[in-house]
Amino acid sequence: MSLFRLKPLDAHTHNLENALPKTLSWPHLIALGIGAIIGMGIFTLTGLGAALAGPGVILSFAIAGAVCALAALAYAEVATLIPAAGSAYTYTYSVLGEMFGWMIGWALILEYGLGCSAVAVGWAAHVNGFLEGALHIKLPATLLAGPMEGGVVNILAVVIVLLVTGLLVLGARESAVVNMVLVAIKLLALGAFIIVAAPAIDTGNYHPFMPFGFLSREVGGEKVGVMAAAAIMFFAFYGFDAVSTSAEETKNPGRDLTIGIVGSMVICTLFYMLVAACVVGVLPFTEVAKSGGEPLPYILRLMDHPLLASLVGGAAILALPSVLLVFMYGQSRILFVMARDGLIPARLSRLDKRGVPVVMTLLTGAFIAVFAGLVPLKQITEMANTGTLAAFIAVSLAMIILRIKRPDLKRAFKTPLYWLVGPLAILGCCFLFTSLTTFTMKAFVVWAAIGLVVYFSYGFWHSRLRHETPA
Ligand code: ALA
Repeated sequence: MSLFRLKPLDAHTHNLENALPKTLSWPHLIALGIGAIIGMGIFTLTGLGAALAGPGVILSFAIAGAVCALAALAYAEVATLIPAAGSAYTYTYSVLGEMFGWMIGWALILEYGLGCSAVAVGWAAHVNGFLEGALHIKLPATLLAGPMEGGVVNILAVVIVLLVTGLLVLGARESAVVNMVLVAIKLLALGAFIIVAAPAIDTGNYHPFMPFGFLSREVGGEKVGVMAAAAIMFFAFYGFDAVSTSAEETKNPGRDLTIGIVGSMVICTLFYMLVAACVVGVLPFTEVAKSGGEPLPYILRLMDHPLLASLVGGAAILALPSVLLVFMYGQSRILFVMARDGLIPARLSRLDKRGVPVVMTLLTGAFIAVFAGLVPLKQITEMANTGTLAAFIAVSLAMIILRIKRPDLKRAFKTPLYWLVGPLAILGCCFLFTSLTTFTMKAFVVWAAIGLVVYFSYGFWHSRLRHETPA
């Protein structure tokens, strides 16, 4: 049936002899992972997480990190088998067929596109905090948030999206050296926060540990509880596909990828849990909830460390645009591959002389800017998470199916205990998905339905595979 035509696996199964030069080892992969993972999530969402889960937000981080680590192992295995551009979209197309591949590509617009909008809003909160805290400049409230939060537009978020879009159009890419420097800055900032805040922890603030319980439950349209926070804090962990997609360049994939993925996940989870333990330990969680998108500088200012507050805020201001750059670049590559496959019009992803998909990059930037400027952070983040969870489920499923259907394929990396890790990753993602608000789950279904309409209006008929291999 043509809906389920498969992009041939062997078309992009590289001959490992002819692969890219193998220059990376696990320390590089850990740096790559941390560079892509640590961003808006820890610097901004921790305050929101504390409001939803209380001190139990520490546990929320552990749960979200564990689910991501499981999915990351599946990603690594599939990425080494299908080391082609397009990430989860390509993997799904090759294993579950075109319609599901399209749907995952469509879901990745949420992960990458809305993910960028969310990072931009987090960045804006830090710039605003810095302007007020360090320079005593107060922007009008109408320019700090969109209409749903009583403003007109989040102008700073729009500005950073346009700036990064401009950089991408000019052909900018993040270099390994810049990544290393930013990893150091981020870890130093989080480390400094932990060292200064930890001695001020009042263990009384940890009681009750789970004031809203463990399971996510709806209270007045909002969901609260440890799982509700985990479903949002999940955002803080993605970006690790940066590690799995470098499989080809890894010296000893079996060892380096496992250490790289699990290692970057473990390091980030530990840092996140320590930061969260400080955030909800220094202040009662009800106070943290008032931090307005920059909880770490907010707490440091309350602790009378204005200089460190500005430095930590400054680190976020420096580092978050690089997360934007990586994600926006990823988005344009995925759309590029979808256009090459004929599922979206090829003229949208035409490359200019320097190899930059200018039209696609501008369209992506406009989409991201609209959401960043107008929609509240929590809604954007939840929607971005739905798309990412869908992609993680698809990749975990693809990993299991390939193990069963194609045990013959030579795997550079094998997920340990795949029969356990794969299903656990899928169950974990489903658990996180159902912990999101009902509104978000419905919005995801609407997004998926629009995706199907688009597919049957265009992609189904123009698919390159359809023309190459008539069903
Ligand atoms: N994990 C990345 C962040 O938190 C997307 O910004």
